Amino acid sequence: MNNHFDAIILGAGAAGMMCAFTAGRRGRRVLLLDHAEAPGAKILISGGGRCNFTNTGTEPSRFFSANPHFARSALSRYTQHDFIALVEKHRIPYHEKTLGQLFCDGSARAIVGLLLDECEAAGVDLRLRHRVVDVSRAEAFRVETDRGTFTAPALVLATGGLSIPKMGATGLSLEVARRFGLPIVETRPALVPLTFGEADLALMRPISGVSLPVEARAGKTRFREAMLFTHRGLSGPAILQVSTPWRAGEAVTLDLLPDVDATAWLLARKNERPKAALHTVLAEQLPQRLASALGQVRLAQHTRPIGELGNKALKEVATLLKGMALTPTGTEGYAKAEVMAGGVDTAALSSQTMAAQDVPGLHVIGEAVDVTGWLGGYNFQWAWSSGWCAGMSV
Ligand code: FDA
Repeated sequence: MNNHFDAIILGAGAAGMMCAFTAGRRGRRVLLLDHAEAPGAKILISGGGRCNFTNTGTEPSRFFSANPHFARSALSRYTQHDFIALVEKHRIPYHEKTLGQLFCDGSARAIVGLLLDECEAAGVDLRLRHRVVDVSRAEAFRVETDRGTFTAPALVLATGGLSIPKMGATGLSLEVARRFGLPIVETRPALVPLTFGEADLALMRPISGVSLPVEARAGKTRFREAMLFTHRGLSGPAILQVSTPWRAGEAVTLDLLPDVDATAWLLARKNERPKAALHTVLAEQLPQRLASALGQVRLAQHTRPIGELGNKALKEVATLLKGMALTPTGTEGYAKAEVMAGGVDTAALSSQTMAAQDVPGLHVIGEAVDVTGWLGGYNFQWAWSSGWCAGMSV
């Protein structure tokens, strides 16, 4: 059997499959290797099984990276509209849920089916259940596996990030990149629930399951979406979003009433409902269980009816509701993280081709690169865009 190819791609996930059929269509002999039993495992579980495959509002500002401009080129060379056209070509019904997020009407299997059909049509040689034992380079790249050794002048690292190790996530791309001298931006779990210490859990744990719309902020980045209290801390889209820019030791600031001038509202209610307890008034705007918990844990000093509270005290309550600063103890880690932030440093890569500047033929795509999208289909769009660019280059 001839084990020499034009390009070897490690990882048959979103980015790897896109790269493989793009190169295959150009007449390249492509080997797509994966250690898993089946390709695209994360696609299958994504978006609650319906795969939020892109976002109509994709633009570079929706991505975090040490170089915020890096994603611009790939995102403009292969856009969300290109992927939507591919979904339509395969007659996959889809809908916009909210905030530009596009989901399959049916199962995420349709997206894996699309990618596999395209790979087959492009003559991609897909080999599963191959454990990579060693990667080296002489005249060509040499990938040694437990089922044979393969060579090619181009190698694409597409094994994704470290999140959900239970599903077979590994750091192979990072290890190989490091071996070839590429710098790595420190990796960390992202799009992940945040955990808190006992003092904050006294508020959060009893109201586990309560959710409300908030504006959550970490550093200068703000997201206005739903937040969920859990028995370990905070989750929900607003928290998953801020978990990416959040750094250990920093506070996350919550506006629990993003559409309300809390000071004006409380002063008005003081006149209108002077005999009501503070938590009863808070329950007009907040979920009942949260209002009671705030009354017991954070505002326990204000036991008298609102009419008897001074304006200064009410302003303090308003300040708390509009800017509750809480410092997480950490995150729920890679076991619960939707993605890994950090990865192969974009400074070592061409933004047009994803090729390593100093290692001819080596490319890195998808989540292994230090480009992390917001929640909402952006990470798949990055996988499609970066995969397409490398597929046009190898
Ligand atoms: P991906 O993880 O897709 O593929 C990597 C491939 O490499 C896998 O097939 C794996 O088996 C293989 N591999 C790993 N190590 C290997 C090794 N050592 N040897 C050989 N093969 C190896 N994003 C989004 O935009 N919309 C969404 O709805 C969701 N939903 C979602 C839900 C959940 C629960 C998770 C965990 C993640 C999401 N995401 C998401 C994120 C999205 O799944 C992710 O960003 C992309 O799959 C990344 O694509 P990649 O191709 O880079 O990696």
